Amino acid sequence: MRGRFIVFEGIDGSGKSTVSRRVAGHLAERGEDVHWTMEPTDTAAGRAVRAAIEGRHEPVSTTLLFVADRIQHAHALESRLADGQTVVCDRYLHSTLAYQGVTLAGRPDVPDPTAWLRDLHAHVALRPDRVVLLDLPAEAALARAEARGATDPFEKVDFLERVRAAYLDLAAAEPERIRVVDAAGTPDAVFARALDAVDRA
Ligand code: TMP
Repeated sequence: MRGRFIVFEGIDGSGKSTVSRRVAGHLAERGEDVHWTMEPTDTAAGRAVRAAIEGRHEPVSTTLLFVADRIQHAHALESRLADGQTVVCDRYLHSTLAYQGVTLAGRPDVPDPTAWLRDLHAHVALRPDRVVLLDLPAEAALARAEARGATDPFEKVDFLERVRAAYLDLAAAEPERIRVVDAAGTPDAVFARALDAVDRA
């Protein structure tokens, strides 16, 4: 049987990395064959993306790198899913729809960022079976990110609040696929909600 492709999304500091790893570990303990992965990936394409973020490269160029990394990543994940592995991924296409949707808004050369981003994703064959959106106000998320010393140019409160709103719009449009999980509270409480969002049909 084909494996499930489960994606964790949320703004920086929402706790996705920790929660997605913990959920993957739990599914493995339950006997599933699980592969945890993330975007940007740890490949040459992903490193190019990280360099573009750190170097504050031109946003259209950075967008194309995110999508190139994803096309390669989806290609690599396809055989795992076909073999029945469960894939848990920290960020995927909704990161680009939300973050780059906000970043590219108002550019005269990209009159309809959402349509352009969706067109680019026609080249990404793989769609998630379930997206767990860890939702947290930007101020709380930023405080978490700062506490671990991990802030990058994307991490500014009003920017993140706009990205959060973009994510919530995407979730409202696809409630079956995208489950919104309250990311406030103790790690155990958030983990339990996230696991429920993965398991519930
Ligand atoms: P990370 O903090 O989850 O490693 O992601 C790095 C940054 O890149 C983060 O601020 C979110 C941003 N990002 C996008 O803007 N678009 C994307 O498609 C992805 C995967 C990440």
